[in-house]
Amino acid sequence: MGTLKHIAIIMDGNGRWASKRSLPRILGHQQGIKAVHSVVKACAIRDIKTLTLFAFSSENKNRSTEEVSLLFKLFLSVLKQEVKKLNKHNIRLRIIGDMSLFPAKIQQTALDAQKLLAGNTGLTLVIAANYSGQWDIAQSAAKIAKAAIAGDIEANNINVESFSQYLSLANEPNVDLLIRTSGELRISNFLLWDIAYSEFYFTKTLWPDFDESELIKAINNFNNRNRRFGTRL
Ligand code: IPE
Ligand code: IPE
Ligand code: MG
Repeated sequence: MGTLKHIAIIMDGNGRWASKRSLPRILGHQQGIKAVHSVVKACAIRDIKTLTLFAFSSENKNRSTEEVSLLFKLFLSVLKQEVKKLNKHNIRLRIIGDMSLFPAKIQQTALDAQKLLAGNTGLTLVIAANYSGQWDIAQSAAKIAKAAIAGDIEANNINVESFSQYLSLANEPNVDLLIRTSGELRISNFLLWDIAYSEFYFTKTLWPDFDESELIKAINNFNNRNRRFGTRL
């Protein structure tokens, strides 16, 4: 029930996918990129407005330096490789998270890609990198405090609507459907504010095995939910 405008996904299980095959974890991440391709395409053709993908959490930087640096390299090469294809499909790109952690080269490539795709009017693809929901709320509070000191906003005018304008997903619709793969039943510090009224869908499928048919299962499941938003008709 209701239209599906915004899907967010915690893409989990790459490491376990690789371990099951006695492969290094990074091969699981590489295989995960294929799932990203099919899901982006499937959302674009279904007129989904926003797809937000959790690619790297603030906590993920505490993994081994080897895994973190390989993930950075993978991120850079995918950004470079895919930008033209995204543009061809009229896809807009937003990267959210504390990008200051990333090497300067990645930061620049990310800025260039977002700039190139900024005018596109199809699917908005949001990649959360070095992102955490708590970080997002804290950085919004810091921005709003600065705006208040500068006299641009009055404390009395800080409310749900004005506050959300300072969040990373400002101007995107609220998340309708949150998907997590790999069987874990937690949020792991992904979007917090934006999932206030999301429908949750958990699947045991590992992220590298997720594809269009898995997405359709999730969407069908969502379509059978009774979203009441606290009201009763
Ligand atoms: C998700 O897969 C991708 C990232 C967190 C970067 P994991 O790497 O968390 O895979 P598992 O949970 O160890 O299987
Ligand atoms: C969350 O998955 C982060 C991403 C999918 C990018 P993790 O695998 O890092 O989370 P935990 O450790 O299971 O909570
Ligand atoms: Mg995991």
